[in-house]
Amino acid sequence: VSLESQLKAYAAIVDSRLNSLLPPPSQRPFKLHEAMRYSCLAPGKRLRPALCMVAAEAVGGTQEMALDAGCAVEMVHCFSLIHDDLPAIDNDDLRRGRPTCHKVYGEALAILAGDALFALAFQTLGGVGSEPSRVVRSLQCLTRAVGSDGLVGGEVEDVLAEGEALDAERLAFIHSRKTGALFSAACEIGGILGGGTDGQVLALREYGQHLGLAFQVADDLLNELSTVEALGKAAGSDREREKATYPALHGIDGARTEAYRQVELAVSSVRGLPARVGELESLARFAVERLS
Ligand code: IPE
Ligand code: IPE
Ligand code: MG
Ligand code: MG
Repeated sequence: VSLESQLKAYAAIVDSRLNSLLPPPSQRPFKLHEAMRYSCLAPGKRLRPALCMVAAEAVGGTQEMALDAGCAVEMVHCFSLIHDDLPAIDNDDLRRGRPTCHKVYGEALAILAGDALFALAFQTLGGVGSEPSRVVRSLQCLTRAVGSDGLVGGEVEDVLAEGEALDAERLAFIHSRKTGALFSAACEIGGILGGGTDGQVLALREYGQHLGLAFQVADDLLNELSTVEALGKAAGSDREREKATYPALHGIDGARTEAYRQVELAVSSVRGLPARVGELESLARFAVERLS
């Protein structure tokens, strides 16, 4: 079975579970629930939930153990996309091949739909049926990954760095937080809920950090080299906004070399896990070889 078809299978399971976890559009406030569903159920790759489930299997657990946690991570991801696209941040009109949330529902609803997805993520993760200590550790992991030393902190530095002189250390700081932290949390939480040992959970955290950094370097490369049609979101916009990116600092070849170096580091982090090592390796390669 190809990786593509495996990812499609994971995405179908995740989409169906997200559909049940998200409030129905028939429930008040109608527009809020519509906006949450519009962004969260739009066609994304669902790579973070897939990683969460594979991580659980890699330590001897099942994908069911990590499905709701994977959905919680995807809700956080969707919140971050809605807010990232707002006029005050990246000001983008297109996401997942569709008009962005604020273009359809207006800025107020987009901000609030993001807030509500963020809350629903923690409600969902807190409600996972697992040993309480595993749930608490998962909650701590996700909150840390999203806060001021994680995704939100990375987004802040990304915005503040626009138009400023680049340096390698700041760039790595931005990318490992705005994107790497959530990937890392997805993998770590999968390991925790799958019943992994402390060593296995640490290995998955490191794998996710490297994969996440590689993923964002690849995102920079796609923004520079691909098209809006292929991506379903803006292309060429990083250069226009003088964003801090790997191609801007290291050139196309330098960025690609760094992405592959991170893939190798990711793969070597998880070599000792009891299962799914080949799949984790393929997923790490997919993070940089993807075309959208
Ligand atoms: C896009 O993430 C935002 C970044 C962190 C680069 P994805 O490429 O995973 O977006 P979807 O979920 O597939 O739309
Ligand atoms: C993605 O940042 C990271 C988050 C949304 C937290 P980017 O701004 O680089 O990604 P795209 O290009 O909008 O997907
Ligand atoms: Mg951004
Ligand atoms: Mg953006």
